[in-house]
Amino acid sequence: MDRADCTALDADDPLAGRRAAFALPAGLCYLDGNSLGAQPHVVEHEWREGLIRSWNDAGWVDLPARVAQRLAPLVGADADEIAVGDSTSVALFKALGAARRLRPDRHVLLTEATNFPTDVHVAGGLAAALGDLEVRAVEPARLREALDDEVAVLFATEVDYRSGARHDAAALTRAAHDAGAVMVWDLAHSTGAIEVDLHRWDADLAVGCSYKYLNGGPGAPAYLYAARRWHEVLDPPVRGWFGHAAPFTFDVVWQPAAGAGRFVTGTPHVLSTAALETALEAFEGVTPALLDAKARSLTATFVTLVDERCGGEVALTSPRQAAARGAQVSLRHASAYALTQALIDRGVIGDHRPPDLVRFGFAPLYVRHVDVFDAVEVLADLLATGDWDRPEFHRRQTVT
Ligand SMILES: Cc1ncc(COP(=O)(O)O)c(C=O)c1O
Repeated sequence: MDRADCTALDADDPLAGRRAAFALPAGLCYLDGNSLGAQPHVVEHEWREGLIRSWNDAGWVDLPARVAQRLAPLVGADADEIAVGDSTSVALFKALGAARRLRPDRHVLLTEATNFPTDVHVAGGLAAALGDLEVRAVEPARLREALDDEVAVLFATEVDYRSGARHDAAALTRAAHDAGAVMVWDLAHSTGAIEVDLHRWDADLAVGCSYKYLNGGPGAPAYLYAARRWHEVLDPPVRGWFGHAAPFTFDVVWQPAAGAGRFVTGTPHVLSTAALETALEAFEGVTPALLDAKARSLTATFVTLVDERCGGEVALTSPRQAAARGAQVSLRHASAYALTQALIDRGVIGDHRPPDLVRFGFAPLYVRHVDVFDAVEVLADLLATGDWDRPEFHRRQTVT
């Protein structure tokens, strides 16, 4: 496969025009959308001139609902099933707490031992607060057999943050339901990158992150999905005035808002939610199926080129079959940290996950096949010359 093949793939790409919505520095192969998405062009706000009036005049008060409206088609949900706000960690606490209340006679929260640390910490914190819960963490392949009649909630991350391996979400949801458990998905590495279809999966609750593939900006708000069938009974463990049916009546009696709106707790994060609203405009008319197809094409191109050019110097840790991974490919290398720093120095931005992974995210909206080609050229050159082994590339920084 050569660069001309990649140019031809880009010429056929139905999402090619979307790249123009992003302010990407020239000459950079940005393959880290799985950590922080690129910046969309327009981020404006009404703070300086409108001041407090902007809650009404600029519609700040409806921002989370407007963002939910834009998000819904990307995750196969209806807008009133989505609440926007908080970090993914806090949203997960609310989702797990509410899910657990649907199964009060069971006492286990089941998850993957390899889940993202925050997910396990949040569940541990909930268990510690409630006192009658335990967290059971098993290898991903053992989730099904661990689903016994003690499990109240199965929570899992659809795309593994290290390997990029992707669960069969519909099948695992079915297994959870067959065992009488409630299913909660973490879609941090899925939303905006691959096909997410919460209705088809029959998911109960889910959370997702907007600063990765949705390009909402650093610290952009998370979202929480609550399936319509549970709306009348779901009770968020963190209640707040913005989740009340009528916040500006200042009623101290809890009357939850309709739908997932009850999971909004306090004043919306206007600055970051406004940036997210702008970022989501770039997804207008983009179906999850289109994202999925582009992610598969980009990751397959990367795997092919690494096989061809990197001569066994790195090992693929992501699944070989495109359908079994997200929009991410991870490679194992004994000095993965230094290799990642050397790549960044040469304009190829991925990231490192300990102990030995270099991780590349392929955001379908703005990464091109030629970027993949150029990135592998740099990687192959670094490996062939050993240039990654310079002392400065071994110096550790806080964020990897
Ligand atoms: C699977 C997963 N869940 C959650 C988070 C982070 O959540 P928060 O937005 O609370 O930092 C990450 C961050 O990378 C993640 O990979």
